Amino acid sequence: MNYAEAEKMLKKCGQEHVLAFWKKLNKTERAALLEQIAKIEPKSLAYCREALEKGAEVPDSSKGKAPKVAVLKGKKLAEAVAAGEKELKAGRVAALLVAGGQGSRLGYDGPKGCFSIGPVTGAPLFYFHARKILARTIRYGATIPFYVMTSEANNEATVKCFEENDYFGLNPKDVFFFTQGMWPGMTQDGKIILDKPGHVFMSPDGHGGLLAALKRSGALADMKKRGIKSVFFFQVDNPLVEIADPAFIGYHVMNKSEYSLKLCAKREPKEKVGMPMQFGKTFRMVEYTEMTDEQCNRKGKDGKLYFLYGSPAIHVFDRAFLDREASQPMPIHLAFKKIPVVDAKGNVSKPSEPNGYKFEKFIFDVLPKAKVASFLAFEQKEEFSPVKNAEGGDSPASCRADMQAKWRRWFAEVGVTVPESMPIEIDPAYAVDSSDLKSIGICLGAE
Ligand code: UD1
Repeated sequence: MNYAEAEKMLKKCGQEHVLAFWKKLNKTERAALLEQIAKIEPKSLAYCREALEKGAEVPDSSKGKAPKVAVLKGKKLAEAVAAGEKELKAGRVAALLVAGGQGSRLGYDGPKGCFSIGPVTGAPLFYFHARKILARTIRYGATIPFYVMTSEANNEATVKCFEENDYFGLNPKDVFFFTQGMWPGMTQDGKIILDKPGHVFMSPDGHGGLLAALKRSGALADMKKRGIKSVFFFQVDNPLVEIADPAFIGYHVMNKSEYSLKLCAKREPKEKVGMPMQFGKTFRMVEYTEMTDEQCNRKGKDGKLYFLYGSPAIHVFDRAFLDREASQPMPIHLAFKKIPVVDAKGNVSKPSEPNGYKFEKFIFDVLPKAKVASFLAFEQKEEFSPVKNAEGGDSPASCRADMQAKWRRWFAEVGVTVPESMPIEIDPAYAVDSSDLKSIGICLGAE
């Protein structure tokens, strides 16, 4: 994009002030600014301005009902596992990780996936994800391509982490990195914010930016070419997640579902997790911030919480559904933040109060669009222990404790007691679940 093109586009969008300091910029700064402007889509600007005009309206969740959530046991579980294994053996399953977030709550200055979590080896979060994919690939004899969404801020460091670790054993040809979009920050009156004279303040467009990024990067086309049908979605902060779990894949496929969600019972009424609710024939994710105290604490006839099941953000999508939704607009969420800003003279100031908006899309906002949505329950202690905070709940310490407790349960199943005082870690490629340990246990017993 050259200056004339940038000026024309910005004028059309009422944002020509972005070039106000052009004459004062050197060659490099000019090139960098043009590069930023080239990435701003007029259509997205219009959506953001529309969102600002509407304001941060909180949709009414008072009429929401708890959805029907399946608990698979016995024959039904066996059927789902068999159906899932068929998909995995046929190579119709992909893994999709959103890892573009900034990990600010954790206070970690790098891609969260590089954060050391292995209780013994100190291996990073990415290690556990990649090794689980490798294990299932080996078990089912078919590739599970791994799609990793990064952001402009962490893409280089993420790729480097994989390269330095030989892709954790995965074939690099089956790992696809792609970068989510960035959106400019805006003032209340819809003007793009410059945080330096030649620089637009930009921030990642949220994990919902996934859909557009999948399409733009060619990842969706790659999935199609590989014959992928089911896409297993997960977040970077949860090393307990059972990636490409056959029961979940099978349940999704048997239901002819477009969007399936794994849900677990909340640990406390006000746990900070999203809650899928039913409104007539459709479903929508209601964030914990949108729920009233009454909704959080409401009891059902069985005496349990009525809104019992929260979302740990473990989903399976039909690939064709992602394809269909990738070109559709998504709702925009506003975050009012303190954003550095330049004044008319080009001086930069850091505000003490929020002064501008960041915009984000959330992937679960496509839930109402699914022709068939399914909900499957699982036990939190088996699959959900995220690393979000530096200390306390959902911290590295609580996560390491939960990982080790799970591995101890596996060992107990094969008759080995591992004392709590003994640190323990299992490479997922060695044993992806307790059935792998059972066969090893038989060997140990034979010795
Ligand atoms: C999220 C969900 C919540 C769910 C919880 C489970 C939202 C708004 N809420 O909360 O419903 O119960 O996880 O742990 O998502 N990410 C990107 N790009 C971005 C922003 C985030 O890739 O621009 C990725 C992060 O790297 C991470 C995931 O999305 O893997 C979740 O982001 P985070 O901000 O940590 O979500 P939570 O607020 O914890």
